[in-house]
Amino acid sequence: MAKPKVIVTRKWPKPVELQLKERFDVKLNETDKPMSDAQLKEALQTADAVCPTVTDKMTAEIIGIDKRRAKMLGNFGVGFNNIDVEAAKSHDVIVTNTPEVLTDATADLAMTLLLMVARRAGEGERHMRGGHWTGWRPTHMMGAHVTGKTLGLIGMGRIARAVAKRAHHGFGMQVIFHDPFPPEPEIAKALGAESRDSVEDVLKESDFVSIHCPGGASTHHLLNAERLSMMKPHAFLINSARGDVVDEKALVDALKAGEIAGAALDVYEQEPKITADLLKMENVVILPHLGSATRETRIAMGERVLKNLDAFFAGQEPPDRVA
Ligand code: DGY
Repeated sequence: MAKPKVIVTRKWPKPVELQLKERFDVKLNETDKPMSDAQLKEALQTADAVCPTVTDKMTAEIIGIDKRRAKMLGNFGVGFNNIDVEAAKSHDVIVTNTPEVLTDATADLAMTLLLMVARRAGEGERHMRGGHWTGWRPTHMMGAHVTGKTLGLIGMGRIARAVAKRAHHGFGMQVIFHDPFPPEPEIAKALGAESRDSVEDVLKESDFVSIHCPGGASTHHLLNAERLSMMKPHAFLINSARGDVVDEKALVDALKAGEIAGAALDVYEQEPKITADLLKMENVVILPHLGSATRETRIAMGERVLKNLDAFFAGQEPPDRVA
């Protein structure tokens, strides 16, 4: 029997590409160049399943293409705001994601951002590499203490809980959070985390605010000028979730006005573009969307997509179906 035809939109880790080749009639993307809308449409017309990722905007127009053959989108990523899920549902296209396997890597990255911005690590590196260091002195590059401070989490899903665990049990931080669907009280208690009634309550109380809600229409610009102004002037904003949760222009204004002390970002509104002002600010840490970027995690993400493809082609319910 002919193998199902699968198209993968970007380069994946080698061990997973090898497994794909064994199981499917697969078209890989050796060059790793993002596919154009026309290429994505053609992929949907020629394959049984397409595996897009964070950078592929699977719009209603693309999903609704005439003579579509693909009936499944196996997204490489836990976030799936790159896919118009409503369009997928209306065209009976199954969508899956890759939860759980990237929780620890992304939580580690959120802590990296927190520590970097608190302790001025990026600035310190630039100082050294620029040849400016004249030696140790008592007042040089003093940063913000982390132990004992309050970390506010916006969203309390898997990644936020892993951040809470690290922050509370590893760094002695107090943790507060807001989530419209909060975890059971005993789960929060084990993480040393207390619920707050609103995002605003979290912002007003925290020394560090870390974003862990999904992207998309319901959270677009959740952190706008008004909410940013509620943060303490010595507080830091950390975003390892999705760029469009923060109004990037409002963030620049808040930083310039000294409304907040700094920001540490892994995600941006218009990736890979970034608001130019952020590049110039010493109190801003900027990383290139590295949340899940460990070898182990990226392989596990690929394998998770494989599991979903296998189930789909066996006529079973894919385990990570989101639409
Ligand atoms: C995801 O999986 O949604 C991440 O943003 C990739 O790191």
